[in-house]
Amino acid sequence: MKIIGTGSALPEKTVTNDDLAAFLDTSDEWIRPRTGIRSRRVISREKLDALAASAAQAALADAGLDASGVDFILCSNVCGEYMTPGLSCIIQGLIGASCPSLDINAACAGFVYALYTANAFMAASGYDRILIVCAEENSRLVDWADRSTCVLFGDAAAAAVVERSAGKPFFHLRTSSNLDSLFARYAPGNSPYAPDQPPRAFLSMQGSFVFKQAVSTMCGDIRAVLEKSGVSEAEVDLFLLHQANYRIIKTIIDRMGAPEDRFPHNIGNYGNTSSASVPLLLDELKRAGRINRGDKVVFSAFGAGLTSAACYMEWE
Ligand code: ACO
Repeated sequence: MKIIGTGSALPEKTVTNDDLAAFLDTSDEWIRPRTGIRSRRVISREKLDALAASAAQAALADAGLDASGVDFILCSNVCGEYMTPGLSCIIQGLIGASCPSLDINAACAGFVYALYTANAFMAASGYDRILIVCAEENSRLVDWADRSTCVLFGDAAAAAVVERSAGKPFFHLRTSSNLDSLFARYAPGNSPYAPDQPPRAFLSMQGSFVFKQAVSTMCGDIRAVLEKSGVSEAEVDLFLLHQANYRIIKTIIDRMGAPEDRFPHNIGNYGNTSSASVPLLLDELKRAGRINRGDKVVFSAFGAGLTSAACYMEWE
């Protein structure tokens, strides 16, 4: 499998740390040193499905394809306007595709899980090209009165087209169930048979626990996937990590001991965009000419579940 096209789409509205300080007891002085975040994009007038479709169309154009050129659509999404149908079905209609589609929810690790799923689908079926779209509306998930979470997140959509090829990616995936550390809960239904359902909960996170888990799990996943592929840490050209917090990324850099410029980041501009963060970074790097044929690339992400996943591939 190889990646043959990428694309992304961002909401128009930029919200700076100072903008947040206008209605929350927070400040740029608190947020920036602890997270690396200067601003984030937030959905206002747009719709998530339209952003997702734009990212998908940009990735198709980058791959030199139209919607009829893909055999399957995988969408990674935690939260959007609709509970059902899945966002992948809406994207299929908006871009004018006719292939089947499926949603996955592996939280922030969704892009790497989608790469794994696409690779497995290609091996198990006749699919030659799969469109992966990661689209996240975190602004719908967080409590805008809770300064400990809402300052961390942003909205975005990013996509990649993958194609069957001789290149062999390696994966390391894991799930370690832990509900309390990171969750959001639906509003209760009105079933007369289940009157005592718990209330809606916006995103709730045990920040310092999640921080430590993110560092140890991502370091472990990266080492495991490199061991499988027989490539050393020193040989890797680019480590594309989930953009949750620059301090998490910096701690991983220090532990891995690889040069810092091999861990590009864009969290300063976008905050944590959940599963869209890795393909958004990938698209930026690709458009900036920072990824070249033969580069050894590692993707690694971590999220609610707790889920985590790493992938190693040589860029074709
Ligand atoms: N502005 C000002 N003060 C704040 C803010 C804020 N936005 N948020 C919290 N505080 C206060 C707290 O109330 C607390 O005050 P207190 O000491 O009077 O009680 C104080 O700051 C310290 O809070 P901590 O939570 O201890 O701050 P910490 O230094 O641990 O940083 C942070 C918090 C940034 C959330 C950190 O724990 C972190 O980055 N964790 C990783 C979590 C993460 O990135 N998750 C990503 C989402 S999940 C995913 O992507 C997988």
